[in-house]
Amino acid sequence: MIHKVEEYVESIFNNDSTGHDWFHIQRVRRLALHIGEKEKANLLMVEIIALLHDVLDDKITANIDKAKEEIAALLTELPLTKLHIDEILYTIENIGFKGGNGVVLDSLEGKIVQDADRLDALGAIGAARTFMYSGAKGQAMYDPQIEARSSMTYEQYRGEKSTAINHFYEKLFLLQDTLQTEEAKKIASERYEFMQKFVDQFMKEWNEI
Ligand code: ADP
Ligand code: NI
Repeated sequence: MIHKVEEYVESIFNNDSTGHDWFHIQRVRRLALHIGEKEKANLLMVEIIALLHDVLDDKITANIDKAKEEIAALLTELPLTKLHIDEILYTIENIGFKGGNGVVLDSLEGKIVQDADRLDALGAIGAARTFMYSGAKGQAMYDPQIEARSSMTYEQYRGEKSTAINHFYEKLFLLQDTLQTEEAKKIASERYEFMQKFVDQFMKEWNEI
């Protein structure tokens, strides 16, 4: 039954090189189901929200209203109540770190997918995605003129020119404190340590000789 949702999402993400690929969706889906089991969440809701979580991002979809209609039509074919469908639409509209505009999701399933999405921005994969994204946007991997502004939040200087390394400070190192489930916090700590080592080593090599 979930196959139709899967096909719809796969067709949207098939050709993306900004870190928003179908494999990202698959990783978030697996992580979310894993956390969902620990949290005894509604796993059908978790899986659908995970599959759809990036579709309503304006970086990916030009016509958001049309996409919402398509998704609502797809969901009516699944064994979901109107309440469930409304909750899915609300959640996927508000799930992004910045797209959320500070909205705190109150459903357990929304929190779980948000945590899973944030976990995929951490660790080795998170670092790799950041360099892919920076490359796609024409940003440098590092620029000594663009300081690592760790005292500011991502919101304060989004839109300003940044670098891949700076993105660790403006977002990645801040994500750990926003996680809401115990299992995600557990998984995050190893990823966080790895990123710190990575940035330390990067700076060591940059300044070595
Ligand atoms: P998602 O919606 O999947 O959480 P985003 O759209 O925020 O992800 O970003 C996709 C990937 O690109 C993430 O891994 C993120 O850290 C990275 N990214 C986002 N913005 C920037 C940026 N300004 N510079 C470098 N990497 C970025
Ligand atoms: Ni995502």
